[in-house]
Amino acid sequence: MSDFQPSIIVHGGAGPVKDDSLAARLDGCKVAALAGYEILRLGGSALDAAEAAVVALEDNPLFNAGTGSTLNSLGQVEMDAAIMAADGLRAGAVAALKAIKNPIKLARRVLDDGRHVLLAGEGASLFARSIDFPECDPASLIVASEKQRWDSKHGTVGCVAFDRHGQLAAATSTGGIFNKLPGRVGDSPLIGCGTYANKFGAVSCTGYGEAIMRVVMARDAVQLLQDGLDPNEAAAMALENLVELTASTAGLILIDAHGRIGFGRNTTHMPVCYVAENGVAQVAS
Ligand code: GLY
Repeated sequence: MSDFQPSIIVHGGAGPVKDDSLAARLDGCKVAALAGYEILRLGGSALDAAEAAVVALEDNPLFNAGTGSTLNSLGQVEMDAAIMAADGLRAGAVAALKAIKNPIKLARRVLDDGRHVLLAGEGASLFARSIDFPECDPASLIVASEKQRWDSKHGTVGCVAFDRHGQLAAATSTGGIFNKLPGRVGDSPLIGCGTYANKFGAVSCTGYGEAIMRVVMARDAVQLLQDGLDPNEAAAMALENLVELTASTAGLILIDAHGRIGFGRNTTHMPVCYVAENGVAQVAS
């Protein structure tokens, strides 16, 4: 085991949060960050930690990913997810996925398989079946509150992790945007847009995908790290670039090659939790 100090940050989506759910969302972020940090503490990989943290967020119905995903214009769940390791620029992603409880786990299987980076819709389902990956009843992903409200449930969830070996990884998962057309794919599963990791840094974005993908925001933020900005400066500058070019809103979390954490948003809220050198989980919104 090498002597890098692990660090991890998760987000629960950028956008307005009603006060009565903010504490629960922060708590959900904390549970996820600590699940990932435990893997890092024991010497596990950033990739495994990022996947585990995002699984915890997907399983929490408060967040717009996995169970609790927002509904499209047909009242169906269609989810996107991506995971990327800086080491070897290995990436796996799934899009417009309907019957998988944890899309990030299937994205990881795409990464491990190695033939492709992104599988969508029926092709992703066929891949899942070919590897005996369990499918679920799509109705089990729809929570009662979501069905009642058909409201604009903002968000996306994500994690960025830095392990004891100095490796970085990023993972993002989402139900997308409310009332989207069937087949719409957002920024989250697009490498460089909502998710990116290389030797300079790793990033997960949240916000309006149609804007984030136009500016290739995650790659932009990593380039800013490469240019010498610290992670919080890079987050702020990436948001400035997004606003200048699209006048849109978003948030992002990132870790640089030294394991330093940063985050930023231009929305009213973005629940985050991070754990760094002292092992203590810190939350912010
Ligand atoms: N950022 C998530 C989406 O637009 O789908």
